[in-house]
Amino acid sequence: MSDTSAPSDNGVAVANIGVVGLAVMGSNLARNLASREGNTVAIYNRSREKTDQLLADHPEAQFVPAYSYEEFAASLAKPRTAIIMVKAGAGTDAVIQALTEVFEPGDIIVDGGNALFTDTIRREKAVRETGINFVGAGISGGEEGALTGPSIMPGGPEESWVTLGPILRSIAAVAPDGEPCVTHVGTDGAGHFVKMVHNGIEYADMQLIAEAYDLIRRGTGKTPAEIADIFAEWNTGELESYLIEITAEVLRQVDAATGRPLVDVILDQAGAKGTGAWTVQTALSLGVPVSGIAEATFARSLSSHPEQREAAASLPGPDEDFRVADADAFIEDVRQALFASKIVAYSQGFDEIRAGAAEYGWNIDLGAISKIWRAGCIIRAQFLNRIADAYAETPDLPVLMTAPYFAEALTSGQAAWRRVVVAATQAGIPSPAFSSSLAYYDGIRADRLPAALVQGQRDFFGAHTYKRIDKPGTFHTLWSGDRTEIEAEDTH
Ligand code: 6PG
Repeated sequence: MSDTSAPSDNGVAVANIGVVGLAVMGSNLARNLASREGNTVAIYNRSREKTDQLLADHPEAQFVPAYSYEEFAASLAKPRTAIIMVKAGAGTDAVIQALTEVFEPGDIIVDGGNALFTDTIRREKAVRETGINFVGAGISGGEEGALTGPSIMPGGPEESWVTLGPILRSIAAVAPDGEPCVTHVGTDGAGHFVKMVHNGIEYADMQLIAEAYDLIRRGTGKTPAEIADIFAEWNTGELESYLIEITAEVLRQVDAATGRPLVDVILDQAGAKGTGAWTVQTALSLGVPVSGIAEATFARSLSSHPEQREAAASLPGPDEDFRVADADAFIEDVRQALFASKIVAYSQGFDEIRAGAAEYGWNIDLGAISKIWRAGCIIRAQFLNRIADAYAETPDLPVLMTAPYFAEALTSGQAAWRRVVVAATQAGIPSPAFSSSLAYYDGIRADRLPAALVQGQRDFFGAHTYKRIDKPGTFHTLWSGDRTEIEAEDTH
């Protein structure tokens, strides 16, 4: 039996990294850290049972247990570095407070939860007063990812990266080209901002896949198992991704109790812990359209109002059942519509990251973000290599979907996309993410928008003024008078 006591120096165990919060995510992250050469991991949990359980279950990890914050701090080599893995919210503030009382200037506190980036900005500013570094790090990949290799999106001060970088690189997922899926995203809340947008894109991706499934199921009558085969096939091409892969698994699953496809016995009301809503709220404040993400978030809300759905169930829709004439052709159309809509969702997500960086003064490398999303995270996909290529070619690309690879996919896919949205609309099948993504595509490329009429309406009832296409300046029409136009002060 190998010596399972932790390495020590002068009798004091010297850990180079610590984890606070040993629920599944925290325990798995601690195990991942301990499995990497050069790491000695201190562990602490408010209730000691979880600490003792982890010690007993994983002696090979040679954890350094602590049963108080003082012991935890004493077990860590300087600069002390601790990762907090507790549920985002007040609990995080309590742990931060406790750590600032036992840590010293130069030490590093990492919040690995799904905190709202504005909370992280606030926390980083407060902790910085003590001389301690505070890092908000998005960690994506769920419980499995925490154990085997997540995608990690740390923010926080540059100087923390010197110590933290090697530790996070040692546990991050590794992309096919050998690159670890972690980068210093930017200062203060940048990491949690990017993780938030990751989750927003995740919502859009999941909703688009769900709409594709619904259309094929209702349009062709294929069974979930048959549709699983279709997704598995799609997963060998440009749609290859973790979410497509697991969709096939979920659709293949048979419910043991009833023998029916599991998807048919799951209640059709989707939950959400809030990161999608944050993405949309933030996009609204930044003035960035994220229609696919927004519709995906609203689709979850709509599904979760059974009382309203029951009340509205009597409202009429198309009479005949939806059946397509050529199932194979329709399935291919849906595949192309899914890919086109996915391009829009990612383009909008990266647009939001760019706008957030400008608003909050972060220097975020969009190419680097696409690279660290290639493995470990929930939206991992071959597709992200194409995004990385696009930003490598044109780092300040104004609209991702105008990059040649994506423009070509949209050009070749738009006819199918339109056929699918028309078919869904005529069949009365909700496709909010497909149709809003197409509307965004047509809006962003339009050479003339009805926003001109909106400006006229605003000027009529609120004297909000407007610009003209044929000369500079700001104007207002005297609607209640002789309706002449006058130059006006720019009130935008
Ligand atoms: C990840 C996931 C994760 C997410 C949960 C629940 O990147 O590992 O995005 O952070 O919070 O999967 O998300 P919802 O309940 O909001 O769907």
